[in-house]
Amino acid sequence: MLKPRPGIMDIAPYKGGDAKLPGQTRVIRLASNESPLGASPRAVEAYRAIAPELHRYPDGAAEDLRAAIAAAHDLRKDRIVCGAGSDELISLLTRAFAGPGDEVLYSQYAFLMYGIAAKTVGATPVAVPAKDYGADVDAMLAKVTPRTRIVFLANPNNPTGTLLPAAEVRRLHKRLPADVLFILDAAYAEYVGGADYEDGAALARDHGNAVMLRTFSKIYGLAALRLGWSYAGPAVTDVLNRVRGPFNVPAPAQAAGAAALADRGHLDKARAHNDLWLPWLAGKLAEIGLQPVPSAGNFILVRFPDPALTADMAAEFLNGRGILPRKMGPYGMADCLRITIGLADENQAVVQALADFAAPRGDAHRVGAR
Ligand SMILES: Cc1ncc(COP(=O)(O)O)c(C=O)c1O
Repeated sequence: MLKPRPGIMDIAPYKGGDAKLPGQTRVIRLASNESPLGASPRAVEAYRAIAPELHRYPDGAAEDLRAAIAAAHDLRKDRIVCGAGSDELISLLTRAFAGPGDEVLYSQYAFLMYGIAAKTVGATPVAVPAKDYGADVDAMLAKVTPRTRIVFLANPNNPTGTLLPAAEVRRLHKRLPADVLFILDAAYAEYVGGADYEDGAALARDHGNAVMLRTFSKIYGLAALRLGWSYAGPAVTDVLNRVRGPFNVPAPAQAAGAAALADRGHLDKARAHNDLWLPWLAGKLAEIGLQPVPSAGNFILVRFPDPALTADMAAEFLNGRGILPRKMGPYGMADCLRITIGLADENQAVVQALADFAAPRGDAHRVGAR
């Protein structure tokens, strides 16, 4: 009988955020941490301009895109590898550095793809209990064994939005054996304010066992094109270039990514939008009596403490108003929903709906504009 390799059938298939609601024409999509402002018009133009060249293979080395990334982030181009989303790089790194009998470590409530990638290669996923929804460095270090091959850390973490301070990130890395790969997933780096942040670039520059992952899916609004990149030392970079597909990043993604980087104005606008609405939404959710987890990303994990007003009931109520949040059952947080920061009217609509949900007798406060 045909049988996949051990571990594969233990994988619960990843289910992305819903994008449609039956019977609703206009839906407010707050389930996938996409940018409400969309992509830069320059990126859209660059994407369109590729149309006459669709019969050509893309540049397998993504030279122009890597040069644009290197210039924008002040990094070495020869240490950058592009991937079809950072998801692809998570898979490739796991495949290259872990296998049956090995352990892949991450914090409880970390991005689901880490566990899926580990199981795919037959490695053992080790989820370390979180502290206040975030990574607990001491607990993680305590779980490192001679079998540990990879430690993943999303900073900020999705879906909790928690941020690990720079000193804690460095402490975690410092105590890891040199033969353990430390993967810092900085998918939401652009949203983080304040100086106390380590995106992983300096660690990856200075240490052969550290790699930073980034994506164009979030603040750059290019999720549909599947574009991410890694920054690592020469050895890990070499490994990635051996195991990736020769043309793993499509030409339209390369062109749009480079154009997006050139549009600083759009990036600043997206960041300013988040800076305005993230605290607003957190404040309103707390006013309603819900428990938002402090977030450094473009989304908020919110806990529903009243057993008579559950997260599932809230999701259904929101769906009835055409609003799509993300349910957290797959992350083991069935008492929570994750809500992405949307456009102004979308944020107001979700707060009004949750206020009505939490106070069904009509004593809900009116949600004012900010
Ligand atoms: C922490 C984290 N890492 C990686 C990804 C994957 O991003 P990409 O679209 O680049 O594959 C996501 C997407 O939600 C994420 O939240």
